[in-house]
Amino acid sequence: MSLERATHGARHVAIIMDGNGRWAKKRHLPRAVGHQRGVEAVRTLVRAAREMGLEALTLYAFSTENWRRSEDEVSTLMGLLKRYIQEDLAEFVANNVRLRIIGDYTVLARDIVALLDEALAKTAANDGTTLVVALNYGAQDEIARAAAKAAAKGAITPEAIEAELDTAGLPPLDLLIRTSGEVRLSNFLLWQAAYAEMIFTDVLWPDFKPAHLAEALEEFSRRERRYGGR
Ligand code: FPP
Repeated sequence: MSLERATHGARHVAIIMDGNGRWAKKRHLPRAVGHQRGVEAVRTLVRAAREMGLEALTLYAFSTENWRRSEDEVSTLMGLLKRYIQEDLAEFVANNVRLRIIGDYTVLARDIVALLDEALAKTAANDGTTLVVALNYGAQDEIARAAAKAAAKGAITPEAIEAELDTAGLPPLDLLIRTSGEVRLSNFLLWQAAYAEMIFTDVLWPDFKPAHLAEALEEFSRRERRYGGR
């Protein structure tokens, strides 16, 4: 199958990875195990996205609201993020994957910020799939920051705001997927979702496989996108 057909013309897919906790609970396992299996799902999906030639995959890894979780859970998530980048950075470099972060990651622990800076620098020149990780990200915060920057430059127009968003330069968002049966955006990519197709699936994030992405892309290709025109 040609790469174009594998993605059905979609260039940018974003995912709200939800349901790690419920996946673990169903199996009487600690929530941390659900998050670990969630990272495995991330690793597999990033590889698949690269293989199918998707231009950008944006993953909601940690929201501005996630700080309200227990200290223990926050530190589990941060530890998993750190390990994932440490373990997969060489693979990103070898496979032309570019890393991008949206959200203000500079407030994270110093060792994580240093690791992310290293990963960003080492993959900056790659032009294959861009893996966009949303960290300490909230769309309202992003839009407010972008509007302030646009205002400082003298023009608060949609184009001027868009140019200042954390996602500036990425392809337009084609498809937004949320797992685990919840049907809301939870402050994720509110601006970018303006014309995106949305797919909500009951599959819990640790169970989300490349085949589910392929299915979602097929559904995407069946929908007619008109951008408000006729
Ligand atoms: C939702 O499950 C998931 C998260 C809050 C975090 C997603 C994070 C990862 C998959 C791991 C780290 C990310 C990367 C990119 C390595 P939940 O705990 O809200 O599940 P629940 O709603 O069933 O409790």
